[in-house]
Amino acid sequence: MSNIRDRFKKEMDKKVESYQASIMFDRRLYVYDIYGSIAHASMLGKQGIITEQEAELITGGLKAIREEIDKGDFEFKKELEDIHLNIENRLFEKIGDVAGKLHTARSRNDQVALDMRLYTKGAVMLTIERLIELQSVVVDLADENKSVIIPGYTHLQRAQPILLAHYLLAYHDMLTRDIGRFQDMMKRVDVMPLGSGALAGVPYPIDREYVAKELGFAAISSNSIDAVSDRDFLLEYSAAAAIAMMHISRFAEEMIIWSSQEFGFVEMDDGYATGSSIMPQKKNPDVAELARGKTGRVYGNLFSLLTIMKSLPLAYNKDLQEDKEGFFDTVDTLLMTLEVTAGMIATLKVNADVTGIAADGPYILATDLADYLVGKGLPFRQAHGVLGKLVQYGLGKGKSLRELSLEEFKSFSDVFDKDVYDISVQTSIDSRDVPGGTASGRVSDALKKAKETLNGRKKQGT
Ligand code: ARG
Repeated sequence: MSNIRDRFKKEMDKKVESYQASIMFDRRLYVYDIYGSIAHASMLGKQGIITEQEAELITGGLKAIREEIDKGDFEFKKELEDIHLNIENRLFEKIGDVAGKLHTARSRNDQVALDMRLYTKGAVMLTIERLIELQSVVVDLADENKSVIIPGYTHLQRAQPILLAHYLLAYHDMLTRDIGRFQDMMKRVDVMPLGSGALAGVPYPIDREYVAKELGFAAISSNSIDAVSDRDFLLEYSAAAAIAMMHISRFAEEMIIWSSQEFGFVEMDDGYATGSSIMPQKKNPDVAELARGKTGRVYGNLFSLLTIMKSLPLAYNKDLQEDKEGFFDTVDTLLMTLEVTAGMIATLKVNADVTGIAADGPYILATDLADYLVGKGLPFRQAHGVLGKLVQYGLGKGKSLRELSLEEFKSFSDVFDKDVYDISVQTSIDSRDVPGGTASGRVSDALKKAKETLNGRKKQGT
């Protein structure tokens, strides 16, 4: 039996036992805890710190415990505080006193840092995969609707016509940055802390490089004090998750607006919508609303962890146990949101007729007409003024710009000619033929590039 209370005269208060236990939430680390312990025990055996036979007994016992937990045959005990002590205690039950040798040259401080790093490595990889899947459906939707035109907005006021594909590729670019952030953090997550002990290192001839190699880490930590107290890797994931959720939330917000009867630009698939308990006619965009709402808790988790860290003296403090619930919630929330959002987008119906009409509003080509005047030699500011007056005049007459006669145009500027009627939503779009612009050719090129990158990523696995 592992006992860490020999120096105490009294049992722990029952309320304190519950207060300080983490087994309710750190049990999800069991695979990593066992994996790490197996590598540690085989290193101890290889280095002659324990005998090879003892190492084998320990690793055999740990593997059997893993099976028990996998099958749901393991009884987690709150009085044993956390996942580390629960597993160690079970090891005693299974192999006897030799179990007590596993914790040689190790502390729970470097052990928990290891477990969290292993867990985070897995989470980063899964997150990148899901981001790529989401990006894929965004690109597919753009590709299927290559020629669909929508009004582009600034201040949520109709501004200039754009291609729907161009709009969707904006989200593609945001997701590219998200993927980059998760890829980039990996080199800082992928550092092996074991061997740091409680904080000062350990007085045994251990082989840290061997353990790192066994566990697939790229590097070992270089300062034992930092290694047991550093949670930057959780903060980086949490910050990148907050940014990714913010991107999804912006998209979700737009889908909520676009699917309203006032807009009617898109329709959510029935599988991704819910009904109202009182109003039978309603189809609610709950998936998008939840993605928007859950962004709040991911931000909250980031702030909670930053706050936990901000006043911690070096090195380990029990406050660090508070890193887990919020972090696990962030990982779960982000992964689920990425998956469900991808499904929502993959099944989204675009109402091209409605967006086309909205994009052809009475004054949406005002900038294009100003640019037309610039083409005829007017300085832009003057052209802007002419159009401002024309819009005011049209509004007064209840006429769109297109409905004005050439005489009416000419009364505002004599450089207007009948080619002014050649300006259309399509010419407006295609005139924006600059790198990064909405012209059809530019958008086709961007789509092609996006698909190539995605195919490459899928082949590589990230
Ligand atoms: N459950 C603890 C945590 O999550 C493990 C480390 C405990 N270390 C200690 N010195 N009490 O942080």
